[in-house]
Amino acid sequence: MVLVIGPRLSAAGGVAITGVDLAAPLAAEPKARILDAFRDHHIVVFPDQALTREQQYGFARNFGEVEPSGQAGSKRHAVAHVISNLDKDGNPVDRSASPVGNYRWHTDKSWHSVPPLLTMLHAIELPPAGGDTEFANTVMAYAALAEQTKRRIAGLQVVFRWGSSGGNSIAATRNEPPVDHPLVRTHPETGSKALYLGNHASHIRGMPEAEGAAVLGELLEHATRRQFVYAHRWRKNDLVMWDNRCLLHRAVANYDMGKYRRVMHRSVVKGTVPF
Ligand SMILES: [Fe+2]
Repeated sequence: MVLVIGPRLSAAGGVAITGVDLAAPLAAEPKARILDAFRDHHIVVFPDQALTREQQYGFARNFGEVEPSGQAGSKRHAVAHVISNLDKDGNPVDRSASPVGNYRWHTDKSWHSVPPLLTMLHAIELPPAGGDTEFANTVMAYAALAEQTKRRIAGLQVVFRWGSSGGNSIAATRNEPPVDHPLVRTHPETGSKALYLGNHASHIRGMPEAEGAAVLGELLEHATRRQFVYAHRWRKNDLVMWDNRCLLHRAVANYDMGKYRRVMHRSVVKGTVPF
């Protein structure tokens, strides 16, 4: 097999890599090329990967410590976990209206003090059309800001809290303390500055809450303009991994969620404290 890195999928990022079997252990050379592509394009698509949940976990281990999907030591610990639109009886359910759902722009687990480096999804069952995932490049969005805005937001800290967005505290059903992260974070590998915000970003430390929420709202609108977005249209057995440090993402509710099944396997690799 010869690993092939395709052309960039959009101005905002993304690249497809073929000629590699992710179910097998990864040799040093393909691993280095995948890491380089991930650094340069932020979203890597591996089409036609047949992987068990255990094999996906094994692939994710190449990039760091994988967050457990169950209790430590449990049978389901070292596997990718299942995300779907199915209820406990296996029937499709429309949850797109949930204010804490994946349909709002977010970066994974931003309310954690050490949010993840990357997330990967493997497409198992898809609706006949739709069910896309969109990614917004927050390095490009930061770079496009006016110098005056860059100066105004330099050094600001965002208060992240699960279930809290834009100053509207909703369904605070999780008793987790808020955490502060820099609004402008530095990518640890490239040194690029990126906006860090989205759902679960509540307000700005030291600013009246409504004012901070308004600043976050304006920046989110800017960061998710079409020119900064790559929309991934899934095919069965795509594995997509993305960089949570410089991207926002959301699931798109563009299929009949009450009718069609959408099942993905997810792995999350631990990151470092944003700076
Ligand atoms: Fe997500």
